[in-house]
Amino acid sequence: VPTHLFDHIGELTTNDPSCGDGTPMGRLRDAALLTDGESVLWVGASADAPAADERHDVQGAAVIPGFVDSHTHLVFAGERSDEFEARMAGERYDGGGIARTVAATRAASTEELATASARRLFEMAAAGTTTVEIKSGYELTVTGEERLCWLARELGDAATFLGAHVVAPEYARDRDGYVELVAGEMLRACAPLVRFADVFCDAGAFSVDEARHVLAAARAAGLDLRVHANQLGPTGGVGLAVEVGAASVDHCTYLDGRDVEALSSSSTVATLLPGAEFATRSPYPPARALLDAGATVALATDCNPGTSYVTSMPFVIALAVREMHMSADEALWAATRGGAAALRRDDVGRLGVGARADVVVLDAPRAAFLAYRPGSPLVASVARARRGPEGHDASPGRRA
Ligand code: NIG
Ligand code: FE
Repeated sequence: VPTHLFDHIGELTTNDPSCGDGTPMGRLRDAALLTDGESVLWVGASADAPAADERHDVQGAAVIPGFVDSHTHLVFAGERSDEFEARMAGERYDGGGIARTVAATRAASTEELATASARRLFEMAAAGTTTVEIKSGYELTVTGEERLCWLARELGDAATFLGAHVVAPEYARDRDGYVELVAGEMLRACAPLVRFADVFCDAGAFSVDEARHVLAAARAAGLDLRVHANQLGPTGGVGLAVEVGAASVDHCTYLDGRDVEALSSSSTVATLLPGAEFATRSPYPPARALLDAGATVALATDCNPGTSYVTSMPFVIALAVREMHMSADEALWAATRGGAAALRRDDVGRLGVGARADVVVLDAPRAAFLAYRPGSPLVASVARARRGPEGHDASPGRRA
């Protein structure tokens, strides 16, 4: 297997405290990094760099782990720019538009969905994302959700069943019937295709009790859990996520002191999605309170046509720094190692020895430029670790 050396790295972020400066960022200056195209083999000073089959002199650039986008609704058809315009003119977001995307997605062929999603994945990769979670949730029928879970698994690195996105239109007068369908037949069809189940637990979607029922069934089916919570109000979803031991609770826009306390004393990651607050003109989540209390924070795009048609993790980082008062380092960590923690992965989001060789070279001398120069394409190159047989990722979450 040929080895590959990144040499003359001005600022290397490994997110591995055992490397470099001993901080959580595991930072080295004038560094080099050796991989075999699959894993990181060696990290150290440029002056000590070993010989390699291929050498890539990055001439003082910053190098970071590829971004881990741990929350996307990537597979959908259509768009809702008119809704965005209405919101910018003063309208409120209440989740009502999801039904439009459900209709468009049901009407699309699998090939159309795959093509549209691949285009968005390509944008993500160009912006430095090397690991992507993808949710179902825009068909809300047994066969439709099964198709979306299959696409999520084929296209991404971690697939999530979100049959409990909103109540399907056919069940508008029978909520309980829909919850039973999701927790029963739909879950049985989708569970073999995914690693995670998610529920939108919020005003206008599912109550805490309904969400608890779906999550318990998903857990019994062997899935790990995620929850969309407290996006539209203080609806109790964060407490539920901690109670059921979810890997992540996402949005966290409206939190009280008890939510922050619960998150800081649990292993549930708080995943913040400031693209959604940007595009719904909502208050940003209290990232500082979470970080200061010791909670683990992740950042993700929430890529979806309603609340956050965003594919760029650098844009999310810029929002986190400017609007949520995260430091540039906290935001970078949250977009890489934090996302990995939200997906319960330890092999991505860092560049210590043994990690996957997902290496992003920036067109900048420091990673802080990601927030400092918003809107500029600062990703010079992306090396994604080789995939296993059949083009499938050999990591957990890809193959359930
Ligand atoms: O994460 N909150 C629920 N789901 C998406 C939005 C879905 C939509 O509006 O299409 C979100 O914001
Ligand atoms: Fe979402």
